Amino acid sequence: MQNNENIFIMDHPLIQHKITLLRDKRTGSKEFRELIGEVAMLMCYEATRDLTLREVEVETPIATAKSYVIHGRKLAFIPILRAGIGMVDGVIRLVPAAKVGHIGLYRDPSTLEPIEYYSKLPCDIEEREVIVLDPMLATGGTARDAITIIKKSNPVSVKFMCIIAAPEGIKTLHDAHPDVKMYCAAKDRCLNENGYIVPGLGDAGDRIFGTK
Ligand code: URA
Repeated sequence: MQNNENIFIMDHPLIQHKITLLRDKRTGSKEFRELIGEVAMLMCYEATRDLTLREVEVETPIATAKSYVIHGRKLAFIPILRAGIGMVDGVIRLVPAAKVGHIGLYRDPSTLEPIEYYSKLPCDIEEREVIVLDPMLATGGTARDAITIIKKSNPVSVKFMCIIAAPEGIKTLHDAHPDVKMYCAAKDRCLNENGYIVPGLGDAGDRIFGTK
């Protein structure tokens, strides 16, 4: 894993292999959805690497062992609607005790201000470390604004996980929230004139939900 100023690019071979399948335009919705979940699960393994542990004693059939459990820190996953939902299954399989919030934003066409059209966050978010999920970090505007809104609820910390990131999005998010650790499975070349990541994988929401 490459790390530079809170930005982690995953270079694990399993992740890279699955990203190739995700990029392939011949991959259908069923397989695409499964792959998004699998990549999210592998990324979550890395994104939770810094959870603290507490030593406990456990009786094995043979003897007493000193062993470790996660030390009281609670997690919440918050997918950004709609494509972020595709990542939830994978991460929740790894951390079944986590709570799941949801946030949806659109931009007011006249003021360009982000408007929350849906937000339901865990009621005990102040006790939780939050991982925000969105498979595509394009301009970074939505992730930046979603994290600004989530921070108003005072979570313990915020991390961001995306599968493909454009350099523009990484910069926008890092400039606005330098404290937020960003986990990306791949950093692509640029955005095109329509705001799609190049080479990217197309519209992640449409490919997850089969809406195109
Ligand atoms: N959202 C997507 O789904 N794909 C992109 O390439 C950019 C934003």
